[in-house]
Amino acid sequence: MKRFTLPRDLYHGEGALEALKTLDGKKAIICVGGGAMKRNGFLQKAEDYLKEAGMEVRIFEGIEPDPSVETVMRGAQVMTEFEPDWIVAMGGGSPIDAAKAMWIKYEHPEITFEQMCVVFGIPKLRNKARFCAIPSTSGTATEVTAFSVITDYTKGIKYPLADFEITPDVAIVDPSLAETMPAKLVAHTGMDAMTHAVEAYVSTANCNYTDPLALHSIKMIKENLVKSYNGDMSCRADMHDAQCLAGQAFSNALLGIVHSMAHKTGAIFEDYGAHIIHGAANAMYLPKVIKFNSKDETAKVRYGHIADFIGLGGNNDDEKVDLLIAFLRKMNDELNIPQSINHYGANGLPAETGFVPEEVFLDRLPSIAANAISDACTGSNPRIPTQEEMEKLLKCCYYDLDVDF
Ligand SMILES: NC(=O)c1ccc[n+]([C@@H]2O[C@H](COP(=O)([O-])OP(=O)(O)OC[C@H]3O[C@@H](n4cnc5c(N)ncnc54)[C@H](O)[C@@H]3O)[C@@H](O)[C@H]2O)c1
Ligand SMILES: [Zn+2]
Repeated sequence: MKRFTLPRDLYHGEGALEALKTLDGKKAIICVGGGAMKRNGFLQKAEDYLKEAGMEVRIFEGIEPDPSVETVMRGAQVMTEFEPDWIVAMGGGSPIDAAKAMWIKYEHPEITFEQMCVVFGIPKLRNKARFCAIPSTSGTATEVTAFSVITDYTKGIKYPLADFEITPDVAIVDPSLAETMPAKLVAHTGMDAMTHAVEAYVSTANCNYTDPLALHSIKMIKENLVKSYNGDMSCRADMHDAQCLAGQAFSNALLGIVHSMAHKTGAIFEDYGAHIIHGAANAMYLPKVIKFNSKDETAKVRYGHIADFIGLGGNNDDEKVDLLIAFLRKMNDELNIPQSINHYGANGLPAETGFVPEEVFLDRLPSIAANAISDACTGSNPRIPTQEEMEKLLKCCYYDLDVDF
């Protein structure tokens, strides 16, 4: 038996934020990030709509990018005091993910972070509150997914929490919130969405329900991401939908080792000033992983389907895999994303000499590889790498080498 779970209600399109008026409850806490939502007036609008719905509103501000365990615990404490029956999380993946984890702790005060990390082991929620998510970036699709990514900075590791319990009840996908994204954010979150769709399509947990969502979103991202990056707001609106479709696919089909590697490299070089932004990590690793996975016959055929669906040409599946890789690398170039870690520079832009020194990378490689293998996303990858293969793959991602194993 397979399960396919999405929010009960998905409001989308320009002005969808107004759907907040339809929520039924007494108290809502709005969880937001660093200030983009406030500066652009969306926080005020959300507060006003909720008040119109008759709710008392509390705001929890300042959730940092790549939220920490400490922030989660702090937010849960505020929820325990305020006792909301709606949690409204608005912003990028970070505040929404943090709010999901706060929700778990609010409903189950005795739970530890380690217990939250047990995949598909989250206890029943919704005894105290329901959850509404409103994305302002076009990538993570956390508004429709069963996931939340929280960083343990003492270990420098990102932990994906996974359970359909944390799939939101309501998602509001209003493209006006995405209009203020700086170009770099458009690029990174857009390639995150592309990676979600490609990984979901070749995942061992793919199914008839997820395939059309994955393929259609890949096509939409191909048609809209670069134009959105260059300022076309109609394409940006389409990207907001495309990333949500990709999320609907991967929340139910799961992901693969591109995400395992991104989770385990994101914060591990923080001491060298190299925070490898999630979407940029995915963009760099995806072409390498496609080549690695294409040794699996089923995966190769599926990459061929993707190439066909987006019209890349190619006479056989090997050619189609290579064309898909070339196409993704070209997108990285057009979006100003480096192709490899050794060229990953300030602000995630390509640099002659990247942040991560070679000796530091090589020194940490065995433990990064081991952690990546044990990441929750590895189980559904079409090919399970050995420690040696994962180290080789990560080296290809560092030096931009061809994958031939
Ligand atoms: N839960 C999931 O299913 C899932 C999937 C993929 C990634 N993630 C996680 O999500 C996080 C990344 O989220 P993200 O990429 O959405 O970025 P983010 O939430 O970390 O935000 C990045 C920056 O963009 C700013 N910002 C957000 N929206 C803006 C807007 N409309 N205009 C101007 N600035 C804006 C924020 O203030 C912040 O400074 C990572 O921790 C990643 O691991 C989660
Ligand atoms: Zn992602």
